[in-house]
Amino acid sequence: MNANREQWGSKIGFILAAAGSAVGLGNIWKFPYLVGENGGAAFIFLYLICVLLVGLPVVIAEILIGRTGQKNPVGSFRDLSKGNPFWIGVGVLGVITGFLILSYYNVIAGWSLGYVIESIKGSFQNLENPLAAGELFKTLSSMPQWTLLFHGLFMILTISIIYAGVTKGIERASKIMMPALLFLVIVLVVRGVTLPGARAGVHYLLKIDFSQITGKTIFLALGQAFFSLSLGMGALLTYGSYMSKKESIPDSAVNIVILDTLIAILAGFMIFPALFAMGMNPAQGPSLIFNILPVVFNSIPAGYFFRIIFFLLLTVAALTSTISLLEVITTFTVDEFNIPRKKAAVLLGFTVFVIGIPNAMSFCGWQNVRIFGLTWFDFVDFISANIFLPLGGIFIALFVGWFWGIKKAVPHLLEGTTNLPPFLVSTWTIIVRFVAPVLILIIFLSSIGLI
Ligand code: PHE
Repeated sequence: MNANREQWGSKIGFILAAAGSAVGLGNIWKFPYLVGENGGAAFIFLYLICVLLVGLPVVIAEILIGRTGQKNPVGSFRDLSKGNPFWIGVGVLGVITGFLILSYYNVIAGWSLGYVIESIKGSFQNLENPLAAGELFKTLSSMPQWTLLFHGLFMILTISIIYAGVTKGIERASKIMMPALLFLVIVLVVRGVTLPGARAGVHYLLKIDFSQITGKTIFLALGQAFFSLSLGMGALLTYGSYMSKKESIPDSAVNIVILDTLIAILAGFMIFPALFAMGMNPAQGPSLIFNILPVVFNSIPAGYFFRIIFFLLLTVAALTSTISLLEVITTFTVDEFNIPRKKAAVLLGFTVFVIGIPNAMSFCGWQNVRIFGLTWFDFVDFISANIFLPLGGIFIALFVGWFWGIKKAVPHLLEGTTNLPPFLVSTWTIIVRFVAPVLILIIFLSSIGLI
């Protein structure tokens, strides 16, 4: 046990913080638009399989590496592998991925903060349909000063929490905000499904059309599972390193995964029934929630206030995720280079802000700057969420399953658990050793057309 390491203050602190990292824009912004672009219920079905078969077991493995290693991703892999350069490289890949994700995630987080301000100003009050809302979104997001201002402000928010130290800020915020967010999402679901014409949307979310399933949708569903669970880059590993050995990793993991999945599915039910009721096309891409939600609020009593609260909560949900991203690269820098925490947080946050500028500009003027046909924003999103995270997942599974080895890993896994049925441990073992790495590899290869 590393006596100098900060630990979560309360028993459920870890669950709340990790769920705070997991639940964010991935659930409310990204999941719905991926569902809308990739076949509705069929995508949800694939997503659930990925979460259950690969996500949950690898979440357990990643937390386990962190709690046992008691360090940042690079340090934990280094210690547990006894300095093997390959595994250190895996930790480094995680830190780089954290950088990349934060650099574009923060832009969207900035939009939600911007939407809080616009909601207060009443900018959405007279919007009658999603087309008008879409126009407004385009106008706002294509103004560099608007996008960059909120990108910067959001980074300052993130830095200030990491600056203050993790435990109190994150734990406290998550405890109040998460239930509030859940509540408001449910209010919006009820509103959405009771709009005239909402049925088609419910149908869209429940009726699986298997012809929609292609190699590409499976690949996207897998990437989204990793992204949404904050899995494969060391965020859970880092949070796990602050976790007490008196608590059960499998229990916490199950809670985190259920909460994350529940909020994503509810977000689907919040958007699509309303979208179909308004006769819109589901495939709208990243602007989806910004086109639909402002209008839905106009059909709710006291919509003005609810809209402000909603975007505020979305901002906080995004914040509990950006914190976890900045935390990974900050602890890495603090541990490995002996730079004081506060200095590291400011320097890194600023660097990510700068690296994030091209991502923001992808919506304002740099739309035509293309890499492999993708905008800079889409490209960074694609390589980090769809390539690096699942790749990190393969390595985490292989590390625990083979290199560090099940024999050594299981006793650590059992610490803090009571009565974990042996068949669950063996199922986990089989998934981590065989199912997860093989499945991820097959999905990878098929997506690039190799099989
Ligand atoms: N899981 C977060 C979300 O869904 C995003 C995230 C990815 C956070 C990776 C940390 C690490 O919004």
